[in-house]
Amino acid sequence: MPPAILKFPNKFYWGTATAAFQIEGHPEEYLAKLSDWSEWIDREDKVQRPTNQGRAVDHYEHMIEDVSLIKGLNNNSYRFSFNWARLHRGPNEFDLNTVQFYSSLLDQLKASSIEPFATIVHFVLPKWLSKEGGWENPRTAYAFEEFTKFLLKHFGSRIKFWITHNEPNIFLGFGYESGIWPPGYQNEWGRYFQAYQGLLLGHQLAYKAIKEYNSKHQVGFAQNLYHFQAYEAAKQSSNQALPLWQTSDSVPTIIRNQLHNLMFVESCVEMNALDFLGVNYYTRFSYKFNPQAKDSANPALEAALWGELADPIKDLNSSTNSLGWELYPQGLYQALTNKRLRSLLEGRPVYITENGYSHVEKNSVSDIEDAYRIKFIQQHLLAVHQAINAGVDVRGYFYWSLLDNFEWALGMAPRFGLVHVDHESFQRKPKKSYHFYSEIAMNNGLATTTACYNSDHGNQHFDSSSGIHSES
Ligand code: FCB
Repeated sequence: MPPAILKFPNKFYWGTATAAFQIEGHPEEYLAKLSDWSEWIDREDKVQRPTNQGRAVDHYEHMIEDVSLIKGLNNNSYRFSFNWARLHRGPNEFDLNTVQFYSSLLDQLKASSIEPFATIVHFVLPKWLSKEGGWENPRTAYAFEEFTKFLLKHFGSRIKFWITHNEPNIFLGFGYESGIWPPGYQNEWGRYFQAYQGLLLGHQLAYKAIKEYNSKHQVGFAQNLYHFQAYEAAKQSSNQALPLWQTSDSVPTIIRNQLHNLMFVESCVEMNALDFLGVNYYTRFSYKFNPQAKDSANPALEAALWGELADPIKDLNSSTNSLGWELYPQGLYQALTNKRLRSLLEGRPVYITENGYSHVEKNSVSDIEDAYRIKFIQQHLLAVHQAINAGVDVRGYFYWSLLDNFEWALGMAPRFGLVHVDHESFQRKPKKSYHFYSEIAMNNGLATTTACYNSDHGNQHFDSSSGIHSES
């Protein structure tokens, strides 16, 4: 008997997500230091080796092959980002060769009936703006508006879905709190909130420009959502959700949910400048109430907030990916159905704009047999399906990522791809998960014989015997 298929809604978008700096590797960007990241990548104290010297995975030269890989996935959509630094060289100065590149990318996608979801900026700033204070300087927001209008002029008739920013919360945290990404400030809260305002102004100006161009275009941003959970509740495997007033673990949890997950969403909703929310989900953070954990000598916000982060392996008996991120698919369901988020969104649709599994290569032959990634996708899609059944209007899912690409401060080692890339020859080879994902997209659903949620007590979680393993 053929397996039953757990169907997704009609016209559901199936795709993968990428970002320009993580894949393109245009030599000019690195050599001419056109962007903040093309300089940052040289800093051995900040970016782990190997880095491939900014060549990433040479998508610039492999674009046609990469689109045919997308096509082979039976995907009907693709999320990519524009390379702001290569396109926009100074005030009112643009590079038309780069326009050509995106123009042919869009033509290729169209020829394969693949709907583009375009991210205007995915973390990386043109050098001429970053050296003047980046997002702290309101000038950057106006340059972003100019850039958006330029994109509309060239591509506006071919792109309906626009993502202004990728993860403003992660950008601010890494750039102004931990300092591991450009501009590299640590605990500079004045700058942090100036940059927050710059990002918000940029979003507002881009939203307005796009809506004026075509009011039917859909504009949102991609937010990194963690599932924050009170430790006391995380420990329970029963279906009975612990009322949050019953545990002080809620205190450190709720404040983080507000700051990290909700704040930027709320700002955009308040301006009525949001048609959809892009959700990037990777993991859960669970906190134990502990006011003593506060370290007054440490100016980091994380150190000031009460609470202690539970260890996923020791405290929660969970598995992690190669980066130590807890594997917790049910957190995607929880994040999507979070009461505060749902009321904030007032019914706006959601797209899962990123969700993926990282692995560190041990052997390029056996790594193609990535059963752990297959399981990751299955279980997260079940969580998405469950959220849809609970009434959340989820309209698409973009796996992060198509290719084994450049992972920011962690260099080339973490591999998230459905397609294996040899980082020297740039040869591409689809992994087992690639074929698995292509079948899901073809069926617009998940075959239930392969669906492997462990549904004991109705609280689905990873089965520790399932082959998902920690690789630290
Ligand atoms: C997200 C980023 C993306 C990638 C994944 C692993 O936070 O948006 O560029 O690095 O994490």
